Amino acid sequence: MKVLALSSSPRKDGNSRMLAESVLAGAAQAGHDVEIVDLSDVVSAPLRDCRVCRNAAGRCSIDDDYEDLLVGKVLPADALVLATPLYWYGISGQLKVFIDRIFCYEAAGYPEHEHVKRRLVNKRLAAVVSSEETYPGSLVGITAHLQELARYLHHDFVGVVQGFGNSRGEVARDPGDPLGKAFDLGVRMFEARATDYRIDTPRPSTVWADAAVGTPD
Ligand SMILES: Cc1cc2nc3c(=O)[nH]c(=O)nc-3n(C[C@H](O)[C@H](O)[C@H](O)COP(=O)(O)O)c2cc1C
Repeated sequence: MKVLALSSSPRKDGNSRMLAESVLAGAAQAGHDVEIVDLSDVVSAPLRDCRVCRNAAGRCSIDDDYEDLLVGKVLPADALVLATPLYWYGISGQLKVFIDRIFCYEAAGYPEHEHVKRRLVNKRLAAVVSSEETYPGSLVGITAHLQELARYLHHDFVGVVQGFGNSRGEVARDPGDPLGKAFDLGVRMFEARATDYRIDTPRPSTVWADAAVGTPD
């Protein structure tokens, strides 16, 4: 399986990238192909008005490597790892721009939009977030956002690891061991349970197959 991490901090030696690298180290140990891309190397401008921006061939005229990233790496990936610092209680602008610009390629004006829509769905999605603040509510905005994104794209949202730190690399000193948790998430990327039941969803009475005791009432 292919696991692609999109690192969205401008700091390439920062905390969220470290977390992403740990996810990939775990995924590599489990035998998967892994790659990391720094969005700051690729995404040079926000989404524009596509009617004005598209060239005669229907392609985005923003002169950067976004199309290569989306078509060449994101669409073929089986799992995406979104890495972001907590910025103003949400994702980084760079990651938001990456997500916004998907629109240009799945909208009808892009010649291969059907291909893009077909390949964008049915992936595993994970996120790693670094933040200075530690209270649980700090992550609510990002979790809610990415959960909705996953729902829309038919992705399985398998987990979020938050690490605490402010200066570069400080997340390694977080006693909660987010780097270890990120590694574990990578190892279990394709085995992790990603359930989201409705009242009528058929399911077993236990979460884990080898559960020995207890009844679900
Ligand atoms: C523009 C900006 C906004 C930030 N907003 C928050 C915030 O709302 N809450 C928080 O806990 N930390 C905030 N921080 C701190 C970063 O989340 C923290 O330093 C993080 O570890 C940086 O990750 P990085 O090393 O991957 O860049 C902010 C930092 C910056 C530069």
